Amino acid sequence: MRSIHVGLLGLGQIGSGLYKLISRKSSFCERRYGVRFEISKILVKNLKKKRFPGLNSRLITSDANQILDDPSIDVIVELIGGILPAKKLIIEALRKGKDVITANKALLAEEGEEIFTLARKLDRQVFFEASVGGGIPVIKTLREGLSANRIDSILGIVNGTCNYILTQMSHGGMDFDAALRQAQEKGFAEADPSFDIDGIDSAHKMAVLARLAFEQPIPFREVYCEGIRHIAEQDITFAKDFGYCIKLLAIAKREKDGIEARIQPTLVPKDHILAKVDGSFNAILFDGDEVGEILLYGKGAGPEPTASAVMSDLIDWSKGIESKLPADGEKPLKIKSISTILSRYYLRFSVLDQPGALSKIAGVLGKHNVSISDVIQTERKSGTVVPLILLTHHVHEKDIREAIRIIDGMKTMIRAKSRLIRIEA
Ligand SMILES: NC(=O)c1ccc[n+]([C@@H]2O[C@H](COP(=O)([O-])OP(=O)(O)OC[C@H]3O[C@@H](n4cnc5c(N)ncnc54)[C@H](OP(=O)(O)O)[C@@H]3O)[C@@H](O)[C@H]2O)c1
Repeated sequence: MRSIHVGLLGLGQIGSGLYKLISRKSSFCERRYGVRFEISKILVKNLKKKRFPGLNSRLITSDANQILDDPSIDVIVELIGGILPAKKLIIEALRKGKDVITANKALLAEEGEEIFTLARKLDRQVFFEASVGGGIPVIKTLREGLSANRIDSILGIVNGTCNYILTQMSHGGMDFDAALRQAQEKGFAEADPSFDIDGIDSAHKMAVLARLAFEQPIPFREVYCEGIRHIAEQDITFAKDFGYCIKLLAIAKREKDGIEARIQPTLVPKDHILAKVDGSFNAILFDGDEVGEILLYGKGAGPEPTASAVMSDLIDWSKGIESKLPADGEKPLKIKSISTILSRYYLRFSVLDQPGALSKIAGVLGKHNVSISDVIQTERKSGTVVPLILLTHHVHEKDIREAIRIIDGMKTMIRAKSRLIRIEA
C-alpha cells in the first residue's frame, strides 16, 4: 500500500469536506487505487476555532512552514481561497518542489499566469478541477475528453446562488430581495452576496475555463461582468410572455476577430437545454468542432461535491497524471470589448403614456440600426408611466447603447433608466 502525505492549507467548508471525504473513502481508495491518502498537517488561521468531531486536532497548525518545509509531505492542497496568502503559499510550495492542488478560482483567474508559468519553469503540477463547477468534472472534460476538439464556445450557469435566486423569482413569484433572503436562509448565499450576485464569481470561473478552452491567457479584467441585481420581477414576467427565462450566463466564444468573454443576465428560450437548469444547480455547455455540443450538469458548490473534485485531483496526482496546460495557440486572439459584440436584446422602457411615445422610441432605435422584432405594451392609461417592452433583431451593442442613451435623455417621456438584457440562442 502506497501512502501519500497531504499538506492541507485551509480547513473551512471545503477543507473540512476533504478531510471527512478522505477518511470516508480510505478503504475505497486502498482497494481501487492501491493508495492511502493521509493528511499530515493542516494550516488554519484561527487555532482557537471549534472544529468538527473526529478531527485529529494535533494536525492543526498556524505556521505554514511546518507544512511547506516538511520533506515527508508529498503534495499540497490549497483550500484557503482569495489572493493572499494563498498565492504566496502556492508559489513557495512549487519552489520547494511540491505539486499543488487548488480550488481557488479567484487566484487562478486573477494571477494564474504567474503561477502556471512558474509551475512550467519548475516542472511542477498545478491541479484545479474544483475551481469551476464544484463537483462537475469540467476541467477534466476539457483537458481529456474533449482534447481532440477546438472549443468554439462555452455557455455556462456557473453560480448556484444566482441560479437559485432567478429560479425563485421565476417559479416562486418572488422579487429579487425576497429570493436573495431565501437563498441566504438556505445557505446558498453568503451574508455578503456581492461576489456572487454581481457576477464576479462567474467571471473568475469563466476566465479559468476560457483559458483552458482557448489555449491563451484570458485577462480577468477583460471579462465583461454584469450581475443580476437589476433584474426586476416584471422582467421575468415579460420574458416569460415572449417564451424566455432569465439566467445568469457565463459566455465565451471564439470568433474570427477575437474572443468574447462575458457574464450577463440573459434571456434564454424556454426550450433551450440551459433553461431547464434550475435551483442551485450548475451546467456548462461546450461546443467542440468535432463533437458538437456537450452538456455537463450537477452540483456546482458545497463541501461534498467540491471535495469530490479535489479528491479526484489527488487520485490523478497519485497515478502520475499530468495537469499541465496545453501549449498556447499560435497567435493569441484579442478579447473583444463588449461594445463590439453582436446580439439580440430585450429592452424595457418606463414610458409616460402619451401619443406618439412608441414611434419616438422606434425612431431613435431605427436611426441607430436597431430593428425591432417584438413589442409588448401593457394596459394603457393616458398620463401614467407604463412599461414598454421591445425585442430586437441582432444589432451591435455600441449602436443600441447609444440609442438608449438618447432615449433616456427624453426626460418628458422616459421616467426611469431603461433596461437592456441580452438574448442568447
Ligand atoms: N464553498 C464552496 O462551495 C466552494 C466551491 C468551489 C470552490 N470553492 C473554493 O474553495 C476554496 C475554499 O473555500 P471555503 O468555502 O472552504 O473557504 P472557507 O470556508 O472560508 O475556509 C477558508 C479556510 O482557510 C483558512 N484561512 C483563511 N485565511 C488564512 C490565513 N491567512 N492563513 C491560514 N489559513 C487561513 C481558514 O482558517 P480558519 O478556519 O482558522 O478561519 C479556513 O479554514 C476557495 O478557493 C473557494 O473559492 C469553494
